[in-house]
Amino acid sequence: MERATVREVTIAPRVTMPRLGFGTFKLNDAAATAVLAAAIDAGYRLFDTGDRYGNEPEVGRAVRGSGIPLEEFVVATKCYGPAGYDAVRRAFDASAQRLGVDRVDLYMLHWPREDPDETRGAWRAMEELLAENRVRAIGVANHGIADLERLLRHATVPPAVNQIEVHPWCAREEQRVAHDRLGIVTQAWGPLGRGRGLLASAGVLSAIGAKHGRTAAQIALRWQVQLGLVPIPKSADPRRMAENLDVFDFELDAGDLAEIARLDTGQLVGPVRAPW
Ligand SMILES: NC(=O)c1ccc[n+]([C@@H]2O[C@H](COP(=O)([O-])OP(=O)(O)OC[C@H]3O[C@@H](n4cnc5c(N)ncnc54)[C@H](OP(=O)(O)O)[C@@H]3O)[C@@H](O)[C@H]2O)c1
Repeated sequence: MERATVREVTIAPRVTMPRLGFGTFKLNDAAATAVLAAAIDAGYRLFDTGDRYGNEPEVGRAVRGSGIPLEEFVVATKCYGPAGYDAVRRAFDASAQRLGVDRVDLYMLHWPREDPDETRGAWRAMEELLAENRVRAIGVANHGIADLERLLRHATVPPAVNQIEVHPWCAREEQRVAHDRLGIVTQAWGPLGRGRGLLASAGVLSAIGAKHGRTAAQIALRWQVQLGLVPIPKSADPRRMAENLDVFDFELDAGDLAEIARLDTGQLVGPVRAPW
C-alpha cells in the first residue's frame, strides 16, 4: 500500500504534530518493540505514551533506533500523578530518562487536580520545563471545561493540547467548541471506541465506508480529522496500522457527517475523573 500523506497541525510556536498519531496504551508486552517498529515503518511519527503505560523505554528505543532523525518524531508522554510542582518535575525527569531523550516534544498532565494549589504548582512546573527547553509543548489530558478554566486562571502559557476521549459514539461537541475558543488542539483518545465492539456494530460507519471504499475504522478516523481533531488510534496489527493512517485522500460529505452525528449517545467508555 502506498504510504498515506499525513497532514500536520501547529500546536505551539514552531512546533507541529501529525494530524493522526499512534496510541501505545497496553503495548507493554514482549511484542511491543516489534509493534512499535512496524508502526514507524507504516509511517506513524506521532507516538503517545505515558508514565503509567510501562512502555516509555520501548517507545524511546523504537524512535531512537529507527534510523530516522529524532526531529521527525513527535513523542508525547504524560505525568499520571500525584501532581504538584515537585512531583511533576520528578516525573518529567524520570520519563525523559526512560525515553532516553533530553527533550520531550509534548508533555501532558494526565488528569486534572481538584486541589487549586496542586493545579497551580503542577502547571508552574510544566511552564518551567517549557522555558528550560526540556519540552517543546505542554498540554493536558482528560480536562473538562471547568478544569481548563481553573488551570487557565493562573497559567502564563495555556495548554497546547487536551487529550480527551472522543469517537463517533461520544462526540464531545461542547468540549471541542471550548477548546477551539481557548486555542487548544483536541487529541482524541479511544478514537475507535477502544475496540469494545463499537466498530463491529457500526452499521452506519460501515455503510458510509462502503460508499467511499473504506472501512468503518477509516470513517471514524476521517470524521475526527475533518472535525480538526488529532486521533491517536492504537493497533498491534500492521495491516490495521496502515488502514488507520490512510484517511487523508477522501472526504466525508455533509450527509455522511449528519449520519455520524446521530451515533453520538454521549456515553464515555473510559473514566470521567482520575481513577485514584
Ligand atoms: N489520556 C488518557 O487518559 C487515555 C486513555 C486511553 C487511551 N489513551 C491513548 O489513546 C490511544 C488510543 O486509545 P485506545 O488504545 O484505548 O483505543 P482505540 O485506539 O480506540 O482502540 C484500540 C482497539 O481497536 C482495535 N483496532 C485498531 N484499529 C482497528 C481497525 N482498523 N479495525 C478494527 N479494530 C481496530 C485494536 O485492536 P488491534 O490492536 O488488535 O488492532 C484495539 O483493540 C491509547 O493507545 C493511548 O495512547 C489515552
